[in-house]
This record gives sequence, structure tokens and C-alpha cells, in this order.
Amino acid sequence: MVIMSDIYSLGMERGLLYETILTTQNRDGTPNAAPVGVVCKNENEIVLYLFKGSKTYLNVRRKKTFYVNLSKDPLLFVQSTIGDLGSGKFQKQNSGFSLKGADSFFRADVTHERIVERKDHLGTSTLNIVRANVKEVVEVNQHPEPLNRAIYGIIEALIYLTRIDMVSEDEKNKNLDKIDEISRVVNKVGGEDHKKAMKMILKELKSK
Ligand SMILES: Cc1cc2nc3c(=O)[nH]c(=O)nc-3n(C[C@H](O)[C@H](O)[C@H](O)COP(=O)(O)O)c2cc1C
Repeated sequence: MVIMSDIYSLGMERGLLYETILTTQNRDGTPNAAPVGVVCKNENEIVLYLFKGSKTYLNVRRKKTFYVNLSKDPLLFVQSTIGDLGSGKFQKQNSGFSLKGADSFFRADVTHERIVERKDHLGTSTLNIVRANVKEVVEVNQHPEPLNRAIYGIIEALIYLTRIDMVSEDEKNKNLDKIDEISRVVNKVGGEDHKKAMKMILKELKSK
């Protein structure tokens, strides 16, 4: 375990959204874990969008502090989503819990909250836009890589692009819809190069 200076030293980059697992404390003191997207604002500040209806939403509203765990373990993501993580998977920290299986983790203290109603392609929802300052940055495994979805989207879109001439018209239209959705995600979570790469794919598609 190594104490790090900030979240850039964990491989995070300004403006990108990372898939992380947030650990929070329930009202009865027990730990809770759930996957949450975290936007890196700068080396010491993050922003998250918490949808009303989850324990994480309530716990962050109440405690104003939480831990962000970086991992690429598929089982940790699934178990924390379906609520199947036993108490043995958590590590007690000064102000809550981290995950024992995390590659790295940090504490974040809430500095600002804004509750908004948002309409998107999924409908209307209430969410809390949370700004938080980064504290206690800990690297557990050397050279942890935070999880960003943009590169996976680009690879998927490229695979669809290379197959476009081989498939039926019906399949082609389905693939174009998938590429549209991938483009939306890449523009939400990616950095400048990811967005540029996606633009090149869309341009190439138009020329087909
Ligand atoms: C990869 C991934 C990212 C997610 N990101 C968010 C997010 O940014 N904000 C949010 O409110 N929920 C997000 N969710 C959904 C929550 O993890 C999910 O609602 C969870 O069941 C909440 O658990 P809890 O009630 O224990 O807090 C995400 C889920 C996954 C799988």
C-alpha cells in the first residue's frame, strides 16, 4: 500500500468519466457498495451524478463522505450491483469503508450538492450532482488503471464498421443504431482523442 499525492497519480485524467465502486456507510453503520461513474475534474476534485432511489444516494446525502474504489474485477462490479458483497469484502477506514479487492481507493469529502430533475432518453429522474474533494489516496496494486468505457466503445464500433459490407440490410441498420448509442457513450465518458476517433468512425460510415 502506497499513499499517493492525488488522483492523477492513479492514472485518472481531467474530464474523463471512470466506472468505479463507491463504498458508503448505511445509517446502521454497515457498509454498502455500488458502481458509480466518477468524473475527474482535476487532481483533487471529482463530480458524480447520483440518482435518487439508491442507498448510495441516501448515504452520501447523510454522511457527506465516501470512498471511491478503482477495480477491473468483473465479480466485484456484479456483486456490488446486485447487493451480494459480504461484509468480509470491506476494509474499515478512518471515515468509512473501502473494498479489500480494490486496486486503489481514495476518500472524497462532499463540498457541494445540487438536486436536479433531469429528462433524458430513459425518462425523468431526480439526481444529486455531487462535487467532492479528494483525500487519503491509496494505491494497493502497482500501476492501477482506472476503468473508462470509451476505448471499449471505439473497438466495438470499429468491429461493426468492418462488418458493415458483409451483413444484410436489416442487420446493417441494427448495427448503425448500435454505433449511434456507442457514440453517445464515448462523447459522455471519453477524452478528446476518444471523441476524435469516434468522429472518424462516423465520417467513414457516411462514406459507405
Ligand atoms: C457501471 C455502472 C455505473 C453506474 N453509475 C451510476 C451513477 O453514476 N450514478 C448512479 O446513481 N447510479 C449508477 N449506477 C447504478 C447503481 O450502481 C445501482 O443503482 C445500484 O444498484 C445502487 O445500489 P445501492 O442501492 O446499494 O446504492 C451504475 C451502475 C453500473 C453497473
